[in-house]
Amino acid sequence: MSSFSPQFLDELRARVSLEDVVGKRVKLIRRGREYVGLSPFQKEKTPSFTVVPDKGFYHDFSSGEHGDVIDFVMKVEGLSFPEAVERLAAQAGMEIPNDSPEEREKDRQRQTLYDAMDVACAQFQKMLRMPEGKAALAYLHGRGLPDSTIERFRLGYAPDSRGTMKGALAREGVPEELMREAGLIRRPDDGRPDFDYFRGRVMFPITDRRGRVVAFGGRIMAKGEPKYLNSPESAIFQKRHVLYGLTQALKPARDGGRILVTEGYMDVISLHQAGFDFAVAPLGTALTEDHLQALWKIVHEPTVCFDGDTAGQKAAMRVADHALALLKPGYSLRFALLPTGEDPDSLIKARGAAAMSEVLAATLPLSEILWRMETQGRMPTTPEERAGLEDRLSRQALRIGDSTVRSHFLRAFKDRLWSEWREAGRRRNKGAGGERRPSPQVGIPAAAARATGTDPLRGAQQVLLAIVLRHPDVFEAEGERLGALGFADAGLDRLRQAVVTILSGQPDLDAAGLARELAAAGLAAESDALLGDPMISHHRKIAAAADAESVLATWRDTLETLRRAAFAAERETIKKRLAGDLTPDGWRRQQAALRAAIGDSEG
Ligand code: UTP
Ligand code: MN
Repeated sequence: MSSFSPQFLDELRARVSLEDVVGKRVKLIRRGREYVGLSPFQKEKTPSFTVVPDKGFYHDFSSGEHGDVIDFVMKVEGLSFPEAVERLAAQAGMEIPNDSPEEREKDRQRQTLYDAMDVACAQFQKMLRMPEGKAALAYLHGRGLPDSTIERFRLGYAPDSRGTMKGALAREGVPEELMREAGLIRRPDDGRPDFDYFRGRVMFPITDRRGRVVAFGGRIMAKGEPKYLNSPESAIFQKRHVLYGLTQALKPARDGGRILVTEGYMDVISLHQAGFDFAVAPLGTALTEDHLQALWKIVHEPTVCFDGDTAGQKAAMRVADHALALLKPGYSLRFALLPTGEDPDSLIKARGAAAMSEVLAATLPLSEILWRMETQGRMPTTPEERAGLEDRLSRQALRIGDSTVRSHFLRAFKDRLWSEWREAGRRRNKGAGGERRPSPQVGIPAAAARATGTDPLRGAQQVLLAIVLRHPDVFEAEGERLGALGFADAGLDRLRQAVVTILSGQPDLDAAGLARELAAAGLAAESDALLGDPMISHHRKIAAAADAESVLATWRDTLETLRRAAFAAERETIKKRLAGDLTPDGWRRQQAALRAAIGDSEG
């Protein structure tokens, strides 16, 4: 039996998608973060076969079978372990390492490369605390990083010298050959000895998802070029795979179901420090397909963050563009737009974590970015222009590789075009002015929301609950609507129901009293998690100390957002229900139902 290295098998499992492989055999239905389907191992009527992509395994409750993607292929295809590995590797476009002595030697070297990088990282950290590192330490402190952050991200300093690091590494027993391979030293063209690659720079170690140092980014402190110097690629470092900060962000991202992609090293560190510990960054490159696939393995809808200026908008378009071909049901992207000229680091510094929370609370789905790109915030008025817009939107949607997602986008764009035009016609009849108006942020087409498989309303629902938890008196004033809403997230909905029950019985409870009652009901963890969520804890308008007026205003705005979204969903359902009925009576019923729904939304 051939033996594949653990690294190779890890890489294979990371590259192939379990749900895709299983999905070819078993019709899977998504249920939260899992998929279910009928057992491929045993005949059954009710689905008991479960796939957990986050964990990379499947479990079949009917037969007790359990395993990872390789086990699955072995079982259903009747293959041996090496055959299954070969089959999957071929699908993933990976080359099978041959089990030669040279290969083993390479594995051993990779291991020593990791070791060399780790030794180097420790040396850079040490230099930061030496007299020659004084200016670098002051630089980091000056950028608002306390020692705890410096430790956590293992920041260091490379002295401004040709041989200090080389000497230090040699004393630690790292052979020169390895230093060169790791990109820690460099051979000059003029035949002189190798010299330190990083000189006079603040060092940011780049780690892989397991936390091993694979490269460095070094920032110059004064003005100079390049601002950041990155390690050359090596056997353990490929730029297009790595996301800075993933080591630290992986668990928070999984736990919270969200990940934020920003641009730079400092952005990631500032964000983590401000409580947004689910931030990562590519290394000065655009987001690659490898990045997207890796991100989708962690959450279904990563958020990418861009500067709101034209260059940032263009970059967002490029990412949107790139993602279209790769979309699959349940997976998409959201976009966070920063104020012009700011990156997350500068925004947090200038205006605090609250400003960043606001940015994250207003993210836009991919479909909205495409819509804005094509409409430029303006609805055309002539039939010719309208046809042009419809055509451009369709072209965008047609670039989506997956047919299910594609049809949802086409449908959503078409629906939205017609409803905006009808709306414009109504306004004109009422004598309202021109058609220029900002794209609405609420009422994202329900079909698009479904296509992305997440609940875009979750943030609004969290805000609503947080308001009541902190300011229970709002419930007495206008809380009955909370009882009529239903939240898609089961945990959030449990909390909602408990709050309604408790406050209906004891309307005079204050925040502390409500917290006690929730704890008694076994919901302390849920309510703590909600209030501790950075989107909530930094939201100034609903803080415990916020004035009653601003709290009430936020409550009303948020309810309105939810109400409109519910209305949009309702309209979809009615249309669907009546779509097949083409008799004149059916048509009249559809119009009446729609009018009733519209009336309700505006009443
Ligand atoms: P920026 O130029 O936006 O820098 O580059 P920044 O992240 O805001 O850094 P500070 O705040 O000035 O320290 C964004 C990212 O692009 C890569 C780095 O990963 C950087 O974080 N980059 C930038 C390079 O790799 N090399 C460079 O010379 C510049
Ligand atoms: Mn910056």
